[in-house]
Formats: sequence, C-alpha cells, structure tokens
Amino acid sequence: MRLDVFTQVPHAFGWLTEQKPVATVLGGGLELRLFNYRDTTPLRAGQVDDDPYGGGPGMVLRVDVVAAALDATYGAELPNRVVALSPQGRQLDQRLVEELAAEPAIALLSSRFEGFDERIVEHLCTDAVSIGPYVLSGGELPAMVLVDAIARRLPGALAEGSGESESFSAELDGGLEYPHFTRPPEFRGWEVPDVLLSGDHARIDAWRQDESRRRSSRLRSVS
Ligand SMILES: C[S@@+](CC[C@H](N)C(=O)[O-])C[C@H]1O[C@@H](n2cnc3c(N)ncnc32)[C@H](O)[C@@H]1O
Repeated sequence: MRLDVFTQVPHAFGWLTEQKPVATVLGGGLELRLFNYRDTTPLRAGQVDDDPYGGGPGMVLRVDVVAAALDATYGAELPNRVVALSPQGRQLDQRLVEELAAEPAIALLSSRFEGFDERIVEHLCTDAVSIGPYVLSGGELPAMVLVDAIARRLPGALAEGSGESESFSAELDGGLEYPHFTRPPEFRGWEVPDVLLSGDHARIDAWRQDESRRRSSRLRSVS
C-alpha cells in the first residue's frame, strides 16, 4: 500500500523509517512518501498558514495551500481516503487501523499551531482521525502512530504468527493479550508463574487464555 504524509516537517520521519516494522516493509509492501506543503504552496516565501479570521492566537493552515499540495500530487486521482489528523476526529483504535490497512493508498494530512482551516477537513478530506483525547503540537506524531500501526498489519512486517493474537486482535475477540515473562525465573522474590516453566503446552495455553480473558474483562469493565 502507499501512505502519503503531508507535513511541514518531513525530516521528522527519518527515525521512523529506520525502525522495524516500517523499515521491513518499506520498498516492499509499503511505499511511504513525504510531502512538504511549502514545496507546492502558491504563496510567496513558502507561506502555508495565516491568522485566524475573527482574531485569536495562533496560525491556521490555509485551504488553498493544502488544495495545491493535493492537486500537485494527485491531479484528479485522489486516494480513497484523505485523512486529516485532528484531535477532533474519530478516535483511532485497532478496528480503524485494520480498516485503513486494507486500503491501497491513503493521504495523511498533518497541521500545526491552531490546526486546519475547517474547509480542509470538510471539503478536501474523507476522514478526520484523532490518536486520543489530548492535544499534541502537531500532526507528525499522530501520522507516525498511524504509519507504524498500519505497517505492522502488512504482510511480512512481523515475524510469522507474532501479529495474529496481539491485544485488540480478532483472535482475542478484541481483548488483551496474556502477560509475558522471560529469564531470570526469579528476581527480587518476584517469580515467574510455575505453569510457564512446566513445559506442559496444553496447561500453558489454558493459562494464557484465562489470563487474556481476565485482563480483557477488567478492560471492558473500565470502558
Ligand atoms: C495544537 S493542535 C490544534 C488543536 C486545535 N486548535 C483544537 O483545539 O482542536 C495542532 C495539530 O496537531 C495535530 N494533533 C494534535 N493533537 C492530535 C491528536 N490527538 N490526534 C491527531 N492529531 C492531533 C493536528 O494535526 C492539529 O491540527
């Protein structure tokens, strides 16, 4: 699939592209393109934002700037999903990640300062997505969250089997995964559950299923 990120700070994505699983699928199942609004802005001196009408602090990303970026990139062939990253959008969860990972191409639009001119969200985007009910300073971290979450759902991103029964997966009915332990078997008196050292795989599977159910019911009772 292709993910196109529109941003004022494309260099912020350097770290992400070197990390697994994004690095694993880049150039294979994932094409990641980074676009700077400044490169296509129709305004002088790389201007992309402006003062808000009605007054108030902060700058607002201009609709003509975003339209120019989309026109230059796609012409009339826009991806099915053009997503504004906004704290006011649909909250991201694993279901939405799976939905987006099934698309052939997505554009992710980030903003900074006061955010988008509302006409961008209303007329140029198909979706608005929030990564949680809090406000960050820009859409770059939310875009990276989405790129990472989508990349790990692509074929070949993860080691065989490791992405199938993760927390929130269909295999766990959307619930939480069981707890993991590794060496040493005892540390400061904190012991690994005996069953995991037993070598009895049927008992281990049953224990893991119980733990997963217990954690998931706790999660459901809080939400
Ligand atoms: C400081 S925020 C703007 C907040 C906006 N004035 C408001 O109160 O709703 C600047 C940009 O960061 C991004 N952003 C901040 N928090 C976000 C979140 N929780 N999810 C997705 N994007 C977010 C968006 O692109 C947003 O336009």
